[in-house]
Amino acid sequence: LDDPATDPFVVAGAAAEHIARATGIDGHDMALVLGSGWGGAAELLGDVVAEIPTHEIPGFAAPTVSGHLPVTRSIRVERADGSVRLALVIGSRTHLYEGKGVRAVVHPVRTAAAAGVETLILTNGAGGLDPDRPAGTPVLLADHLNLTARSPLEGATFVDLTDLYSPRLRTLARDVDPTLGEGVYAQMPGPHYETPAEIRMLRTLGADMVGMSTAIEAIAARHAGLEVLGLSLVTNLAAGISPTPLSHAEVIEAGQVAGPRISSLLADIAKRV
Ligand code: 6GU
Repeated sequence: LDDPATDPFVVAGAAAEHIARATGIDGHDMALVLGSGWGGAAELLGDVVAEIPTHEIPGFAAPTVSGHLPVTRSIRVERADGSVRLALVIGSRTHLYEGKGVRAVVHPVRTAAAAGVETLILTNGAGGLDPDRPAGTPVLLADHLNLTARSPLEGATFVDLTDLYSPRLRTLARDVDPTLGEGVYAQMPGPHYETPAEIRMLRTLGADMVGMSTAIEAIAARHAGLEVLGLSLVTNLAAGISPTPLSHAEVIEAGQVAGPRISSLLADIAKRV
């Protein structure tokens, strides 16, 4: 993927073919990317039809972040009317800070599109900028600030990002859980967390959550024609707002505490998509 002579969409096609062969399923309807804290949240989606090691899929690498799952699953999602949708559940993601390039970051999104997916649910663990939304709070992405200075698109690809996070899917998610709030997610390059001054800057800029993923993936998803839903789990309050030092351990712990709520939330959304 990092060879400029390689067409990333050809690799995505090969990845989708591998998934079809290894799962025995020719195409999927939706895809979910599970971020930090969301690993257990796919439990209630439905029956697992197939499970394959993600690193065996062309262009994919084994996860380097603890709290991520090394497998990709094909799950049967049964809707209220009894009809079935197939979900491709990707248990990990590549982050920009891993240095594998922006193509590797968006490869799962392009693979999902090549696998026939029309709806993409991106989840992440994020720092919270709103003290009224403590750790363990799931928040819908209403919009994002891509502060990475990178785009997944190459060449003169002028894509409109209005309503990137689907108003239809956000409404549907709030029908599932009327207490679900919305916010603006700022993607930072990482891998370090922000300084308190940077967090004050982000609040001034209108951010409600901060993390190291999702925005770049959502841009690639729009380019691929996918309908996108973004969900953050506030895993900790950000620097200067949190009374305690930030750690990856609290990120993982928040996922465990919020587990039951975000599992049923994700399943109920997926059943209505
Ligand atoms: Cl505070 N910042 C960033 N960039 N990512 C995070 C986070 C904070 N908390 C969880 N993930």
